[in-house]
Amino acid sequence: MSKQKSKLSSKDRPIGIFDSGIGGLTIANAIQKVLPNESLVYFGDTAHLPYGDKSPDSIKYYAIRISQFLLKQNCKMIVIACNTASAQAYETVKDFVGGAVPVINVIDPVVDYIIADKKHKKIGVIGTKGTIKSDIYAKKINARSKNLKVSCLATPLLAPMIEEGFFKNNISRAVLASYLSSRKLSGIDTLIPACTHYPLISSEMVEFYKGKVEIVDTAAVVANYVKHVLKTEKLLAGKKKSLHHFYVSDFTRSFEESTRFFFANRIHLEKMDFWN
Ligand code: DGL
Repeated sequence: MSKQKSKLSSKDRPIGIFDSGIGGLTIANAIQKVLPNESLVYFGDTAHLPYGDKSPDSIKYYAIRISQFLLKQNCKMIVIACNTASAQAYETVKDFVGGAVPVINVIDPVVDYIIADKKHKKIGVIGTKGTIKSDIYAKKINARSKNLKVSCLATPLLAPMIEEGFFKNNISRAVLASYLSSRKLSGIDTLIPACTHYPLISSEMVEFYKGKVEIVDTAAVVANYVKHVLKTEKLLAGKKKSLHHFYVSDFTRSFEESTRFFFANRIHLEKMDFWN
């Protein structure tokens, strides 16, 4: 990827964001709150959802093709708004992009937050099978602080449940409670919801722990990091009216509903098929 293209364009280029489905919308929404002038191009890879069960090679392939698409949309930054893809494909995407634009994953900003705030001692991590199998949170946290205890639990039913629209109801409460009651998570003082779908069930988490465990607001942590990088790179948008575009690899009712839930009616949703 040549650096020429990024030099030709301005700070008013959009931020590219992707996930397997609606999860990354929690990140897009948080970015919109801290950076209201920014335009967004969002890609939900609904044809390949869930990412949590796919092989690392498949995730790398999807991530590269989507990044290629986002660069073609003239994005000034790529945010991998998915923990599974961040765990398995971040280095691959960075190599592919070759420094043309900054690439942000959703794991490093959260690890920075945990390390910076000294009050965390025993941290629970919940995420997809892919994220938990990679053990990336424990590796990254313990590489910087050996004293922190990190316990990880795969919670594979959660992302498909949320994608199907089951949140803030009795089913989401029951499924989540059954996972959070696992012995692996007993005694934690902090929970990292390590899947971008999970902020949609944060009220169920708060209800379960009744204030005894800090639930990291991962979307806000990532959004603030995006702001920091754009500022450092002198890429913050000017006071132009922001314009968002939403693409999916397959139309799903839940994606459309969730997009409208976060972005009201200001959406333009298109199906994009570039796999063959
Ligand atoms: N939202 C994603 C994550 O953060 C992926 C969920 C899935 O598709 O399995 O891992």
